[in-house]
Amino acid sequence: MDSSAGRRGEQLAALRLRAEEHGVIPEAKALAALLRRRDFSEFYRLADDFRRETKGDAILIRAILEFSNHCRRRCRYCGLNSENRALSRYRLSPAEMVETAAEAARAGYRTIVLQSGEDPWFTPEILADVVREIKKTGAAVTVSAGEKRREDYRILREAGADRYLMKHETADERIYRSLHPCGTLENRVRGLRDLKELGFEVGSGFMIGLPGQTEETIARDLLLLLELGCDMAGIGPFVPHPETALRDLPHGSVAMTSRAVALARILMPFCNLPATTALGVLDGEEKNAVFSRGANVIMRKVTPSRVKRLYQIYPSELRDTDIAAERRALEGEIRAMGRVPV
Ligand code: 5AD
Repeated sequence: MDSSAGRRGEQLAALRLRAEEHGVIPEAKALAALLRRRDFSEFYRLADDFRRETKGDAILIRAILEFSNHCRRRCRYCGLNSENRALSRYRLSPAEMVETAAEAARAGYRTIVLQSGEDPWFTPEILADVVREIKKTGAAVTVSAGEKRREDYRILREAGADRYLMKHETADERIYRSLHPCGTLENRVRGLRDLKELGFEVGSGFMIGLPGQTEETIARDLLLLLELGCDMAGIGPFVPHPETALRDLPHGSVAMTSRAVALARILMPFCNLPATTALGVLDGEEKNAVFSRGANVIMRKVTPSRVKRLYQIYPSELRDTDIAAERRALEGEIRAMGRVPV
């Protein structure tokens, strides 16, 4: 272990002790009881302290490029599910992906997230070529394109992909099964472990407000993130999409989302935690508040305007894309919060 890793280990041990003094321990019943507390301010403060000590004042800005809304899966909450016939489907060309990513890099983005539905047209080889080209800009590349074979992840890794984002969605077997006619929790988790073994920085995460979810299932979601050794975790509220089976359900609780993010920070002090876009859709205020409750990452869409509105995982109002202007505006907002855009 080099000395910085050693220092981090010591810091982590010290933070774990402090977490424990506040009753934050990696045990489902204990975490569920915390999530049910009437007053959560003690944990919001602790999460903010941990964030400052491990991450400083930086807020990391990521560019997300939604390159295909084709999806072979039928996840019951997602607007891109293949049964949604109301949606016109698009696919960017590899050349346009590379150009857009290069524009984002010129605007100051240091990470490009390539996200899509599970679209078999984009073979690992095609995606690997795109990754190699984007890496030439100096930006880090995150891929978020769903479940693949271990061999396919390896191809992406060897092309230079730095990170992979794939939320486990829910750690509860029964809920997982009821929402995903096309996959299993076991397979999802196996994928996440494969990615970790292949040397990716791995992002997982889950939704708040899924039918059947309780504080205890949320606690188990947090414990799964911890067990997976996630480098990043996106925790966002479920937002009903009108073209899905779950259209009539209420959206997830904004307050519970903040609580889960705060506990994630306390349990995983070095983890990168985004203020999820879904949270911003429901509550612009809370989206900012969550940055003083543990979060340290924000994503901005750089998807071309022409196709942007077709990438609606959940409904949201979208403006035309202006990569450089939106980056500048966001940097201003971050500075206004007393934080440092990176
Ligand atoms: N509401 C909130 N989040 C959703 N996602 C998909 N559909 C919804 C929805 N209706 C999230 C999932 C997925 C990520 C890309 O978006 O967590 O992993």
